[in-house]
Amino acid sequence: MDSFALIIFGITSNLAQIKLIPALYDMAEKGLLPPGMTIIGTARKEMSSEEFKEYFKKVLNTENIHHQHEIKEEVFNDLCQRLHYVNGNLDDSKFYQKLKDYLDELSGHGHPCENRIFYLATYPDLYADIFENVQKFDLNKQESGYVRLMIEKPIGSDLESAKKLNSLLLKYFNEDQIYRLDHYLGKETLQNILTFRFGNGIFEPLINKDYIDHIQITAAEDFGIGRRGGYYDKVGALKDVGQNHQLQMLAFATMDAPSQFSNQAVTQERLKILQALKPLPEEVVFGQYEGYLNEENVEANSQTDTFYAFKAFIENDRFRNVPVYIRAGKKLKQTVTEIVIVFKIPENRLFKNLKSGMEPNYLTYRIQPNEGIIMEVLTKKPGHKIELEPSVMEFCFKLDPHSHYFPDPYERLIADAIRGDQTFFNDASEVEAQWAFVDPLSNAKSKIFKYQAGSWGPKEADELIEKDERKWIEPNMLYCKI
Ligand SMILES: NC(=O)c1ccc[n+]([C@@H]2O[C@H](COP(=O)([O-])OP(=O)(O)OC[C@H]3O[C@@H](n4cnc5c(N)ncnc54)[C@H](OP(=O)(O)O)[C@@H]3O)[C@@H](O)[C@H]2O)c1
Repeated sequence: MDSFALIIFGITSNLAQIKLIPALYDMAEKGLLPPGMTIIGTARKEMSSEEFKEYFKKVLNTENIHHQHEIKEEVFNDLCQRLHYVNGNLDDSKFYQKLKDYLDELSGHGHPCENRIFYLATYPDLYADIFENVQKFDLNKQESGYVRLMIEKPIGSDLESAKKLNSLLLKYFNEDQIYRLDHYLGKETLQNILTFRFGNGIFEPLINKDYIDHIQITAAEDFGIGRRGGYYDKVGALKDVGQNHQLQMLAFATMDAPSQFSNQAVTQERLKILQALKPLPEEVVFGQYEGYLNEENVEANSQTDTFYAFKAFIENDRFRNVPVYIRAGKKLKQTVTEIVIVFKIPENRLFKNLKSGMEPNYLTYRIQPNEGIIMEVLTKKPGHKIELEPSVMEFCFKLDPHSHYFPDPYERLIADAIRGDQTFFNDASEVEAQWAFVDPLSNAKSKIFKYQAGSWGPKEADELIEKDERKWIEPNMLYCKI
């Protein structure tokens, strides 16, 4: 693996602290950082090289819910040797001259910086300044190496602003240099959906309108917005997780088999689903948990959604008339993210008249917690009579007898970017298709329904699905539980 410089704009950000720094430590531990590779953090305040290393140490040792394992001294020392810090203001040209000089100096000291990955862990308002200066100082020039840019969701706040940001990006970088990161795509459980569907022959023939009654996707959290009010109150649940994570989950669960396992083919199939999605602005419900208005940095009469539920259709031959029900929210009953495929009950089912005989079969992709893939089927209850009972056939990551290593999504995605693999990143057209679907739903927000903390959202969300004679499935927390 060729050496390179990873330049993180915003090394003091919340994102860097909870995700990037722990991921870099894990990569150092797994030997995924090539010799000579350097990490250059930037932020405004001055920090000596020692203070910067202390900062890394503190981040790794602080109670970090995403990184609860021992910090080994030899790994930390390896990481420290790679660390550099350049301070300055991202909207000031002088900073980029300083950065360029620093990179030249590093190269002169045997740390080649011709290959560069820029990571934007800072405010979107600064992107235009960053790109302009990166260009002005030739930092995006690919002469004897590669230059890549990693950029976080959200890409824009609606279709128009996303198009503007994509055009801005394309003014300074080519599409094959841009790594738009939605960390859900780096989740083992999401990637496993592709393996499960396309690596086996027995399930895929059932994933279509002939066998599927409907699809449900839930992304629930049992906690509130915490101290993120300043960000969250401007964005809301639908734009925070619906526009990206949940639509990508749907794409993974419903896309056609790619012609090959390549970035282009996989992205193309995800995109086809996103473009075939039909928004139904009259079929969306927004909610806000009681007590939200008392949260820190929330507007007094905020109409921000902390919950949404909607129905949609995928307008293609495979899924025509199969409704998809999607919901997500904060302060709900459980923290759980899953996709459930609910199968039709065949006309000729033999045991229809028995108790449970009209229960459908379910296929659940449990994204978190207790990650796995679960089929709910009816089996014979042992005994002299013919009686049915629902049983599960589970594949559970936690029960893996091989104790495979389970990489964090950020670790995986940074490693992919180093290898130059964009398969699990979004391209411009995907992001735009997602906004084209979400904008009409977002614009339909005329009323926001209050709901109690610890519930499954407002009753209007139940009515949304119950008028179709269906029900939200209560996530089964016993699935894959050890
Ligand atoms: N936080 C998350 O969990 C999360 C999740 C998904 C995506 N994201 C995305 O990740 C990005 C970062 O978000 P965040 O919430 O982590 O940000 P944040 O905590 O507010 O941090 C912002 C970073 O930018 C730096 N910065 C701000 N203004 C600057 C300036 N004028 N010059 C130089 N540096 C400046 C700050 O450094 P100093 O103030 O120390 O100078 C800090 O390191 C955003 O695009 C966000 O949408 C974040």
